[in-house]
Amino acid sequence: MGGIFGIICRGTVPKGALLEGLKRLLYRGYDGAGYAYLDKDGKLIIKKAPGHLEEVAKKIDFINIPSDIVLGHTRYASRGWPVIENTHPLSDCKNKVAVVGDGFIENYEEVKKELSMRGHVFTSRTDMEIYAHIIEEAIDQGAENVTTQLIKYSRMLNGAFAIASLVSGVKKLYVVHKGQPLVIGLKQGGDCVYLSSDIPSLYGFADEAIVLNENSVAEIGLEEIKVYDIASGQQIPLTQLLRKRVKYPVEVVGKAGYPHYMLKEIMEIPDAIIRTTYSIMEKYLRLASMIIYGARNVYIIANGTSLHAGYVASYYFAEMAGLNVNVVSSAEFPYYALENVSTGTVLIAISQSGETSDVINSVKLAKQRGAVIIGVTNVVGSRLTLESNVYLPIGAGPEIAVPATKTFVSTLVAMAMLSGYTGLYSGNMSRNEYEELVKNIRNHAEILRRELPRYSERAKLLSEKLYGWKDLYVVGSGINYPIALEAALKLKEASIIHSEGVQLGELRHGPMVLVKKNYPVIVIKPVEEQAVELYNKVAKEIISRQGLLITVSQDGQGYGEVINVISTPRVLSPMTTIIPLQLLAYHLGVRYGHPIDTPPGLAKAITT
Ligand code: F6R
Repeated sequence: MGGIFGIICRGTVPKGALLEGLKRLLYRGYDGAGYAYLDKDGKLIIKKAPGHLEEVAKKIDFINIPSDIVLGHTRYASRGWPVIENTHPLSDCKNKVAVVGDGFIENYEEVKKELSMRGHVFTSRTDMEIYAHIIEEAIDQGAENVTTQLIKYSRMLNGAFAIASLVSGVKKLYVVHKGQPLVIGLKQGGDCVYLSSDIPSLYGFADEAIVLNENSVAEIGLEEIKVYDIASGQQIPLTQLLRKRVKYPVEVVGKAGYPHYMLKEIMEIPDAIIRTTYSIMEKYLRLASMIIYGARNVYIIANGTSLHAGYVASYYFAEMAGLNVNVVSSAEFPYYALENVSTGTVLIAISQSGETSDVINSVKLAKQRGAVIIGVTNVVGSRLTLESNVYLPIGAGPEIAVPATKTFVSTLVAMAMLSGYTGLYSGNMSRNEYEELVKNIRNHAEILRRELPRYSERAKLLSEKLYGWKDLYVVGSGINYPIALEAALKLKEASIIHSEGVQLGELRHGPMVLVKKNYPVIVIKPVEEQAVELYNKVAKEIISRQGLLITVSQDGQGYGEVINVISTPRVLSPMTTIIPLQLLAYHLGVRYGHPIDTPPGLAKAITT
């Protein structure tokens, strides 16, 4: 992931415009920043450094750009370490092309091999660099070939990505949209045209945004914008493209138009799911799975939300790989499980931030006893990636709100892929079944994209009913029991109320005593058919005590207030049932007026 911001002007680029645009895109990544421009002779100049934009901008001048064209980037390190070589803009062999990118190219290695065989030298470990060399080959035959070349290669390349490029001597930006957003900003009577990864970042610069279609290539000049469909190669008239007014208030710029990061990040879940499926390269999945399959014993360690993802993963490993894994909080691991660790032990350490000290501490102790470490994280370059033998980047994009949401779902996706792949070795899964799993995950993301606004409306309405209660149960069963725990954690963090996750069958063994008139009990209806009868029994008892029952249902049926969610195969169920509950926690927190993104006394990563 990354944030792309470009400016083309009649005169010099306005002072500070690039820095402001990139700052607004920081939510898309802050592992490196840079820009490319053309000097007065048309020569391409690139300036960049790894690190947070605000730090980089102390060393490199991002304010005064001595040019009428600039292409900037703020990086999320998804493939390739956060070092200068991997920081964008990336360049070709002759320093005539600058490329910045967002997302993942799935099959870039084939093209890279092809280009290397033709003599191209790669200097970064990113997938996006191939585009610099692809364009280099085009300009060797004349700049007019760039668009044709981009269309040709973009047809072959799969993934979810966007790239933008600047070519020496040409006052234009060439862009490709294959699943990551790009918009063009225009202002009536203005002297500049803008390119950005989102509409809110254009606030104050442009009053209208042209939204590029997925699967298109564009050539953006000051006087003319040409857009082409990748599949047909045909030019798309600008009148056929979606246009949006740029009207976000300043305080939501950077949150891509949402009032809080938490809501924005929940709404990004479909994108995050898709990105995870591309982010984890098959060669690492294969390696990690082989290690797990050959292990004597396997532990999953994590904390908080990541621990709940670990609990779900234990169901995945059992179901898809026939493997029993032990899930332990990394805060407890050194005291209760370390003695079982030796050569032959595999530790799957999950940490969104990759910096949680309990996780790092347990990893170090386990390594000393001979364990192999598989890290699962959202932050490449984090301590966890440094300490792991193999790591799987979930690629959800930066998560700013303290309550983790999209990274939880992306971790579930990563763990489903890892368990499924391990199943290929244990013989529990066929290649076709594994591919079907990944396909189902992607399809689910697309359905979710359409359903999310409805989930949010429903959650908002129900938050009104919960308002005033400072205590509630979230009940789950089977593969959704960890979701009850996770939903209860979100309600604590975002709504700041006491909520307890309970197993469906356990509710009748004591906890029911608290259920009285209007006492809220949220039940995730089991997806396991054999447990539906138990649900019916428990639901009736809650109703007989006049409790306020809310059922999250995947089959459209349930007692009390029902939140209908997408019907999925069992394995995908937790990826969908959690979402209305995250939204419920969010909307309830908003009703209470809590600082949703920064709950008092909590930090995004506990590093001490
Ligand atoms: C939940 C939350 C915490 C973290 C936990 C682990 O919303 O923010 O419970 O999940 O501190 O953090 P990571 O995954 O970064 O190790």
